[in-house]
Amino acid sequence: MIHTADSFHPFDLSSDTDYQAWRAWKLDGYPVTAQDLLVPVADPAHLSGAEQAALLAVCRKANMAIYVVRDGAPADKEAIRALGRQFGLERLDRNLRADEDSITTLRVVPEAASARYIPYTSRPLNWHTDGYYNPTDEQVRAFVMHCVAPAASGGENLLLDPEIVYILMRDRNPDYIHALMQPDAMLIPANVEDGRQLRAVQSGPVFTVEKASNALHMRYTARTRSIEWKADRAVRDAIEFLRELLDSDTPWIIRHRLQAGQGLICNNVLHRREAFVDDAAAGRARMLYRARFYDRIRDTVADDRCEGDRQCCG
Ligand SMILES: [Fe+2]
Repeated sequence: MIHTADSFHPFDLSSDTDYQAWRAWKLDGYPVTAQDLLVPVADPAHLSGAEQAALLAVCRKANMAIYVVRDGAPADKEAIRALGRQFGLERLDRNLRADEDSITTLRVVPEAASARYIPYTSRPLNWHTDGYYNPTDEQVRAFVMHCVAPAASGGENLLLDPEIVYILMRDRNPDYIHALMQPDAMLIPANVEDGRQLRAVQSGPVFTVEKASNALHMRYTARTRSIEWKADRAVRDAIEFLRELLDSDTPWIIRHRLQAGQGLICNNVLHRREAFVDDAAAGRARMLYRARFYDRIRDTVADDRCEGDRQCCG
């Protein structure tokens, strides 16, 4: 039996059959550590067929993979762009601080204008998905984060697949999922700087199942400032469940400190960053390139993953 987007609905709360089939497939052989996500590549801009297939297989299962450029050969922004294209990542998000080519250089920026944006400091960055504040039609579905240089110490990333969150939540209480799919579950106030509105107020769901593809999309931030949760008991309980999960030592959270020449390619998984310390004098200052896309990694929706899988499709 071949499932298509029209006939397979694992994220439909009113039916359990497809969910259970997909869940069994998803949890079977799920990556345990960051080691399981690593895929060596020679040149990220020009992957071999085997390298591309290996990266895609890991992304299909875990919504993320970490490529490792052999010999730590340097890669520039154009290489990151070219890497994305090989996975259908075309439409770049233009965020506030992106450089002219819409790929952001993440490093400590001492200027006052950037000081309120934690990504440009060495402070820890709490759990979030990228662009959770974006309007509904400009959701960040994937990003690539390439490490040019690690910090002298610290800067580890913690990663958690939204589909795993979905499973843990649905298994605990499907009402949590229902609550977080409400279009007004989260409200992000407008971003106003020096009296000028940089971003309008946004409200939206945490979980979305995209009609065209059946893909599950998640937006979230653990911030307590600049976000208002719907005053609804189910939303409050669901968010409390999620906070406890993210603060726990659950083995579903994967930890990895990106080394020079390594990069994360993912369907905008939940992530946080630990604090770090640079030693600029010794040439050890953390620097990453980050590209955000409106596209999802091609061929990574639940429907495709179950095709031909005996455990799932019988
Ligand atoms: Fe981020």
